[in-house]
Amino acid sequence: MSNDVDLSLLDPILKKYQSQEGALITMLQEIQAVYGYLSEVVLTHLSREVKVPLSQIYGVVTFYAQFYLTPRGRNIIRVCRGTACHVRGGSRILEAVEREVGITEGETTPDLEYSLETVACIGACALAPTMVINEKTYGKLTPKKVMESLSRKDRKEREVE
Ligand code: FES
Repeated sequence: MSNDVDLSLLDPILKKYQSQEGALITMLQEIQAVYGYLSEVVLTHLSREVKVPLSQIYGVVTFYAQFYLTPRGRNIIRVCRGTACHVRGGSRILEAVEREVGITEGETTPDLEYSLETVACIGACALAPTMVINEKTYGKLTPKKVMESLSRKDRKEREVE
């Protein structure tokens, strides 16, 4: 799969930041916006082009939570693990999601349908416990409601070939 990566998509970004030292994070953000994540092939190419050791690039990528080294799912589930949600059974909600989609926090399903993340607070504490699927917030959750939410059709559907 990695051999199929179109590295020419990197060219405009490389050109744009050609002589700018300290632009690595911005470049990585733009590269991730293009590819969806930062693959080894892409980072190796970047390292060669900007003459920054690959280990240094990985140091940056792994330091910031905004960067992803593996593909992400079409549907991003974010379960809140903030205090308000925690005291109202947030961990049971996370367990229910994990059971339902078959992955744990930080993982993506093999079919790239779902990625599962946790967040500190989604700003809807009155609705605790909460989760967000893509842009939609689900509140006052129970494990049963989790199952219903995940089967709803307001998530992104697989693109039809
Ligand atoms: S703590 Fe969960 S929404 Fe605020």
